[in-house]
Amino acid sequence: MVQNSSLIYLNNAATSWPKPPEVLEAIKQSLSLPVFGSGRTTGSQGEDYLTLAREELSRFLAADPAEQVVFTANATDSLNLLIQGFLADKRDGNHVLTTRLEHNSVLRPLHEYQRQGRIRLVILPFEEGLVSPHSVEAAITPDTRLMVMTHGSNVLGSVQDIQAIGDILHDHGIYFIVDGAQTTGHLPINLRNLPVDAYVFTGHKGLFGIPGTGGFYLRDPESVSPVRFGGTGTDSFSLLHPRGMPERFETGTPNYPGLAALAAGVKYIRSTGLDTIAAKAERQTEYLVNELRKTPTITIYNDRPSLPILSFNLAGVENDDMGFILARAYGIVGRTGLHCAPLVHQVIDQGKGCVRLSISWFTTDEECRIAASAVREIAENADSSIGPA
Ligand SMILES: Cc1ncc(COP(=O)(O)O)c(C=O)c1O
Repeated sequence: MVQNSSLIYLNNAATSWPKPPEVLEAIKQSLSLPVFGSGRTTGSQGEDYLTLAREELSRFLAADPAEQVVFTANATDSLNLLIQGFLADKRDGNHVLTTRLEHNSVLRPLHEYQRQGRIRLVILPFEEGLVSPHSVEAAITPDTRLMVMTHGSNVLGSVQDIQAIGDILHDHGIYFIVDGAQTTGHLPINLRNLPVDAYVFTGHKGLFGIPGTGGFYLRDPESVSPVRFGGTGTDSFSLLHPRGMPERFETGTPNYPGLAALAAGVKYIRSTGLDTIAAKAERQTEYLVNELRKTPTITIYNDRPSLPILSFNLAGVENDDMGFILARAYGIVGRTGLHCAPLVHQVIDQGKGCVRLSISWFTTDEECRIAASAVREIAENADSSIGPA
C-alpha cells in the first residue's frame, strides 16, 4: 500500500493552504499595533493596510486607477454587489446572459432575480469546457443588459476567451462582469487591455490571502449603483453616502488583518514570479492527468486543464467514498461533490458530482506522486468487474 504519514492538501481550488510565511507574519504584524484607518484614527503607528492592499492589487491586475479596486468580504459578496448594482436601474433592458459553467455565487443571485421577475435569464452551454463567443453573440437581444461569466471553471479548469466575448458584448453596449475567483494568482491578468466592466477576485485561493477577503475592479464607477450605505470615515457630516471611489462601495470597518494578508500574498507572488508558479502547476497537473489516464476505470473530465484542477470519477465508486478513502487511508485532502457548480455536473457526470484534486505552489512532486499512486491503488482494489466510469 502507498505509504504517507503526513497531510497532503490538494484542495487549493477551494482555499489555498499552506499560506506563505510572509502572509502569516503580515497578519501577526497587523494585529501587533493599533490599525491605521484614514479618517478614523489619530496618530496610530500601524500600516495603512487598506491602501497597501489596494496598490498591490492595482499593480498586479493592471487595474487603474487604484481607487477603482474595491474590497469586499469575498468573491460571492462582490458578485452580489455588482449584479445588484448593475441591474439597479431598470431602464435599459432586463435580459441577462450567463453560462452553465458558473459557480453558485453567480447562479444563485441571478436565479433569485429571475424568480422575482426582475430579469430574463439565459444560461449558455459550453463544449469541452469552453463557451463559444458565437453562442454569446447569437443569444444577444436588443434588451440584453449584462453578462456574468466565470473566467476559469472551478470544476474543469478551463479558461474562457474573455477578450473575444467582451469585444462582442461591448459592440452591443452590454456590461460584462467576469468572475476571476479561480484565475487570479494563476494567470497573468491585464485589466488595462481586457474588455470587461468588472473583474472579481477572491483573497483566499490563488492570491494566498485568508478567507473573508476579496473584491473587484470596476471600470466605470457610475455604471453601478451603490447598494450598501454606512460609515466611511469621510465626509461624516453628510447623511448622503459618499459617491467617490472607493467609499462608494466600501462601508464599515475593513478586515485589516485580511487585507494585510492579501497584500503580502500578492507581494509573495510578485517576488516568486507568476510565470514560475504557473509553469510548476502546469507540469504537476499534467503529471496527475497522465498518471490517472493509465487506469481505464477512471474518467477524467478535463484532461487538458488550463488551471491546476483535475476532476474525475472512478467506475463503481461514489465520489464521496473516493474522497473518504483518500482522506482516511492516505491523508490526502481533495474535494468531492458538486463544487457549488451544479450545472456543470448535469453535463459531465449526470449531476452526480466528482472528485477534484487541485494543487498549489506549495504542492511537491512527491505529494503528486503519492496522490496519483493512491488513486490508482484504490482503482485496482475496486471491483474489477466494473467497466469504465
Ligand atoms: C469560480 C468561483 N467563483 C466564486 C467563488 C466564490 O468565492 P468566495 O469564496 O471568495 O466567495 C468560488 C469559490 O469556490 C469559485 O470557485
